[in-house]
Amino acid sequence: MIIGVPKEIVTGENRIAVTPGAVKVLINAGHKVLIETGAGEGSMIEDNQLAYSGAEIVSDVQEIYHRAEMIYKVKEPQPSEYDLLRRGQILFAYLHLAAAPEVTRVLMDKKVIAVAYETVMVDGTLPMLVPMSEIAGRMATQIGAHFLERSNGGKGLLLGGVPGVTPAEVVILGGGIVGVNAARVAMGMGAKVTVIDINVQRLRYLDEANGSRLVTLYSNPHNIAQAVAKADLLIGAVLIPGGRTPLLCTKEMVKSMQPGTVIIDVAIDQGGCIETMDHTTSHSEPIYERYGVLHYAVPNIPGAVPRTSTFALSNATLPFALELANKGWERVIAEKAPLSQGINVIGGRVVNRAVAEALSLDCASL
Ligand SMILES: NC(=O)c1ccc[n+]([C@@H]2O[C@H](COP(=O)([O-])OP(=O)(O)OC[C@H]3O[C@@H](n4cnc5c(N)ncnc54)[C@H](O)[C@@H]3O)[C@@H](O)[C@H]2O)c1
Repeated sequence: MIIGVPKEIVTGENRIAVTPGAVKVLINAGHKVLIETGAGEGSMIEDNQLAYSGAEIVSDVQEIYHRAEMIYKVKEPQPSEYDLLRRGQILFAYLHLAAAPEVTRVLMDKKVIAVAYETVMVDGTLPMLVPMSEIAGRMATQIGAHFLERSNGGKGLLLGGVPGVTPAEVVILGGGIVGVNAARVAMGMGAKVTVIDINVQRLRYLDEANGSRLVTLYSNPHNIAQAVAKADLLIGAVLIPGGRTPLLCTKEMVKSMQPGTVIIDVAIDQGGCIETMDHTTSHSEPIYERYGVLHYAVPNIPGAVPRTSTFALSNATLPFALELANKGWERVIAEKAPLSQGINVIGGRVVNRAVAEALSLDCASL
């Protein structure tokens, strides 16, 4: 199959869908890989590294869309890319169509086979979303430590303390992928860490895995209020799949925190779990203050580390890209492979129920 990798054009998007190693895997399987000039620049991957792995570097993006049978990219197509898509072409990317009626209409009109990273589920997990949660979780603690420094507006605390001086208290709401990664980094830095979750099985796992280094607490308003009042760093990491994040930390609880406390609400991309986190922020201006407490509400935290994110994303998507290229979409559907759940639009029809419901469209059977 001829696979095309265009440069990402969304503002501030520095990832690329493939690494040199991924290109080599695709080439070794007998495929051809066309990559737009400079597509890896934002992730510090040079054209000649991709070419050395066997990719053909193409300066004209139109040529890539014209020749490729599959477009392999990171983000959904942007308006300037709509007309480049061809009937029967596979598009493999993060699409988030439930929130994108215009893109969905284009993919339907163009009769593209649209395969979304985020709707492929294997053994109850979303393998192409997990790496971004791992990165965001680890970053959350690192960012929190930075803003706890006095010169950055925080309390002036070192997360791990020093001998004779108590370490900082880190409280994490939600002990899933983000939460566990945030907790690991915080424990590694020597902080006192509490994870609050509503799933007792999850708390049991965290307790068994970490022993007395980690305090686990069942999620209810009383426990949250008590934990939050003594936190130096609060990390929001809750998720209700398919739903809005519940507001677990109220305005009154934020008021009970000491000035200079830092809140990093990683869950802000799903609405956030802190009542005073009422708008998103950006990497260029990440923080605002309410009641003396610093609020960090960046919805695309992994964007700060595009090189790590590119390699992590490519590790997660490559096996599926290879499967699509090796088998073709017809066989993926016929075999009912997990990857078939990624198909959101085909033959001009939406085939993903959640997308169809969100956009009030008919849902055809795959
Ligand atoms: N801002 C970013 O850049 C970024 C990046 C990645 C993920 N995220 C977001 O981070 C959030 C967490 O993602 P994840 O991958 O860790 O999800 P996950 O499903 O692995 O974990 C979510 C956890 O929340 C817990 N939970 C649900 N309701 C709860 C409640 N009432 N009280 C306490 N815990 C509760 C669940 O039991 C689960 O353990 C999501 O909103 C996700 O979209 C944001």
